[in-house]
Amino acid sequence: FKPADLGGMSLTITAGPTREAIDPVRYLTNHSSGKMGYAIAEAAAKRGATVTLISGPTNLATPHGVTRINIDSAEQMHQAAQEHAPASDIFIGCAAVADFRPAEVAEQKMKKKDGEDDMVIRLVKNPDIIASIAALEAGRPFTVGFAAETQDVEQYARSKLARKQLDLICANDVSNEGQGFNSDQNALHLYWPKGDKALPLANKAELGTQLIDEIVELFKAGQQD
Ligand code: C5P
Repeated sequence: FKPADLGGMSLTITAGPTREAIDPVRYLTNHSSGKMGYAIAEAAAKRGATVTLISGPTNLATPHGVTRINIDSAEQMHQAAQEHAPASDIFIGCAAVADFRPAEVAEQKMKKKDGEDDMVIRLVKNPDIIASIAALEAGRPFTVGFAAETQDVEQYARSKLARKQLDLICANDVSNEGQGFNSDQNALHLYWPKGDKALPLANKAELGTQLIDEIVELFKAGQQD
């Protein structure tokens, strides 16, 4: 049992997939369940923190005490993050943001055309939400990212940590079956500029609790520097 020792601390967390509209009835998305982000939000709220969860579409219940903002697209998530992150102590980007969105969204449902056996949808890059938060000049929160990798986990995670100017990155090796996307379990390896730590395979609720411990410790250490 942990006391409500995070009273007065505020976190903004992104979770789940994004949906990128093609036309009024179709979209591009991914398999993110949102479970990891929701578990972190729940763990922080249980300890008394003020938690804002910016969530793409998921089937999950809002954890008790958490303020949830529902969005569909990466651009909407970006806007909500820009609005809420600067007033937060900690920003955790757990969402599986679509890297690209259709360049044009058709106003009407797109129709099959006789004789046309293929079609092209041009995609444009979405904003990198977490990098934009880490680059804030005023009100920059302690910024935590995730990295799902299938190989050379440490190398890719550390280069993301540096490129996006994060304070901490939580890497998971999604080539291991039974962890990561959509699973109830996960294993993470944390990397920050001066160190690293493995959090072995556990259910996401347990991992959320451990992760909040680590994040708060690093956040507090950073404030003393
Ligand atoms: O570059 P990559 O997508 O692997 O980075 C993953 C991290 O960046 C995650 O923390 C994810 O939430 C965040 N991200 C983001 N906006 C994007 C793409 C990724 O915030 N457009």
